Amino acid sequence: MQDFHKKVAVITGGASGIGRALAEQCVQEGATVVVADIEEAALAETAQALTEQGGTVLPVRTDVSQPAEIERLAQQTLQTFGAVHLLFNNAGVTGFGAGGSVWKSKTADWEWVLGVNLWGVIHSLRTFVPIMLAQESEGYIVNTASMAGLISGEPSASYQVSKHAVVALSENLYHSLARQNAKLKTAVLCPGWVNTRALDSERNRPPALRVERQMRPEQAALLQTLQQRLTHGLPPSQVASKVFAAMRAGQFYILTHPELKELVRQRMEDILLERNPTLLDIL
Ligand SMILES: NC(=O)c1ccc[n+]([C@@H]2O[C@H](COP(=O)([O-])OP(=O)(O)OC[C@H]3O[C@@H](n4cnc5c(N)ncnc54)[C@H](O)[C@@H]3O)[C@@H](O)[C@H]2O)c1
Repeated sequence: MQDFHKKVAVITGGASGIGRALAEQCVQEGATVVVADIEEAALAETAQALTEQGGTVLPVRTDVSQPAEIERLAQQTLQTFGAVHLLFNNAGVTGFGAGGSVWKSKTADWEWVLGVNLWGVIHSLRTFVPIMLAQESEGYIVNTASMAGLISGEPSASYQVSKHAVVALSENLYHSLARQNAKLKTAVLCPGWVNTRALDSERNRPPALRVERQMRPEQAALLQTLQQRLTHGLPPSQVASKVFAAMRAGQFYILTHPELKELVRQRMEDILLERNPTLLDIL
């Protein structure tokens, strides 16, 4: 896909970080933008900023874990702009405050992280893919996974599971679309460290899924190290540029940190050699 001018883009998690940078690049490319996000104040502020940058913008308060809200997002997009050509399934929560290993996370932690990171993408694909296919026009769906979806040894079990699942879901979508020669293409974005509010995602946990816990000292230290990685990570605008370059090139896997590919190779080799997982320090 080469030309994004006058295309309609839907971006979930568009009010912060990578999603907001994608929205800004959409505006620069002349696309119309629907920003969907759970955080109302950030959503309103983002919509205003994008409008000031010359964009045509529709903010829609959306919790992606709720299928009815995704359905409403699609209806509002179609009623307002008549079509959708670009879909960025980007909303995500890290859940690093959510217990870490599988048995330390509560059921509510799992429900929240999988509800947003995995079910959010499933609901969105089930709603938007039929609409986009029926248009029979060029289109692109980019799902934001993570390097955590390609490697093993991620500190948060729920996050790792959700992101591996998004990679698998995206690959499955790629095969389905390719088999029917669709004009609609797809890609999976697997960023490494990016300077966003990702580690502050507890701000968006719904009250019904909140968990009271004291953070253990080793968890607090881990979080601090992760925060340093993010603070010194890529600016989100560079990630957005890579995504647009990949869409122009028809590229499926979008990786932002070449130096982290070694971790992917290690995991793949472990599997192919039927060797136990290599214990690597991913930090
Ligand atoms: N920052 C990184 O280093 C990094 C690395 C790999 C992957 N990612 C992924 O990138 C994506 C974007 O995250 P980010 O780093 O920009 O973080 P961010 O916290 O800055 O942005 C995430 C956005 O998602 C929104 N959101 C959260 N729950 C939602 C819900 N239920 N419904 C709708 N919106 C919701 C938030 O309000 C926020 O605007 C996520 O999927 C994240 O897992 C980030």
